[in-house]
Amino acid sequence: MMRDRYILPSGLAMPAMGLGTANLRGEEGLMAIEIALVLGYRHLDTADSYGNHDIVGRAIKGYERSELFITTKVPEDRLHYDEVIDACRANLRELDTDYIDLYLIHWPNPDVPMQQTFDALAQLKELGMIRDAGVSNFQRRRLRRALEITPIPIANNQVELHPFLYQDKLIDFCHEHHVTVTAYSPLARGKVFDDPTLRMIAADHGKTPAQVSLRWLLQKGCIVIPRSSDEQHLRENLDVFDWSLSATEVEAIDGIPDELRIANPPDFDEFDEQ
Ligand SMILES: NC(=O)c1ccc[n+]([C@@H]2O[C@H](COP(=O)([O-])OP(=O)(O)OC[C@H]3O[C@@H](n4cnc5c(N)ncnc54)[C@H](OP(=O)(O)O)[C@@H]3O)[C@@H](O)[C@H]2O)c1
Repeated sequence: MMRDRYILPSGLAMPAMGLGTANLRGEEGLMAIEIALVLGYRHLDTADSYGNHDIVGRAIKGYERSELFITTKVPEDRLHYDEVIDACRANLRELDTDYIDLYLIHWPNPDVPMQQTFDALAQLKELGMIRDAGVSNFQRRRLRRALEITPIPIANNQVELHPFLYQDKLIDFCHEHHVTVTAYSPLARGKVFDDPTLRMIAADHGKTPAQVSLRWLLQKGCIVIPRSSDEQHLRENLDVFDWSLSATEVEAIDGIPDELRIANPPDFDEFDEQ
């Protein structure tokens, strides 16, 4: 189940470890991304709304484009057909690159017919501006509808996942439908350090709660995109591939109560679905 990379419908390999870049901006953000690339990160996760395409574009200069995997996201207020095409064109300019590996719908927007957005994504793929398309923050009901109407495969669903928000039914649904899953906020923005179960398991392995959380998500068959601007943390987060959690440890983490959704979903009720 667990892999270090996942092959998407286009044939591209998506590394299971990526760098989240929300809030990485300016010269400091640029330095964090540059350090991550030197350490070996090859998958960068950004979004139109993070306002940092410029530094991502600068950081990747000097690297072979085909060795990098770049995900970015079209905002929920640009989901009409022409808006998606225009947004992607602008995103390519900002990133100063020829294509986007994975282009996601950042959040659903119930006011825009999904067909329009998926038709636009298909057109972007046809034009070679993106390699694969996917979604973010789609719960099962909406994803099921999207799978019925999309003219191209939905390669990925990026959702909030960590030990305090274990959406196991959603993960299973995605995997059954060949949609890879990316776990965002995989460290619950640092809250993993306060949990006694994670701390105990970490101590047993000589690892940190952050590494345990990442490893748990990887063993669930997810892709992880922790964010850090600290060299030691960046290094630590990469060190999750040559050791493993036992079935008992995985079960103990599964049992941590689900009580925390960090992202602030828009004000409609589909996020109540389990
Ligand atoms: N699709 C969406 O709607 C959506 C929503 C939210 C996030 N995301 C994506 O997911 C990425 C990650 O999520 P996130 O940024 O919300 O939070 P996160 O990765 O769960 O946590 C980031 C925080 O953890 C700290 N940290 C990282 N590694 C650490 C380590 N080894 N030890 C101690 N502290 C550590 C970082 O501080 P330091 O800098 O000090 O290390 C930072 O404050 C985002 O950057 C973004 O790319 C997507």
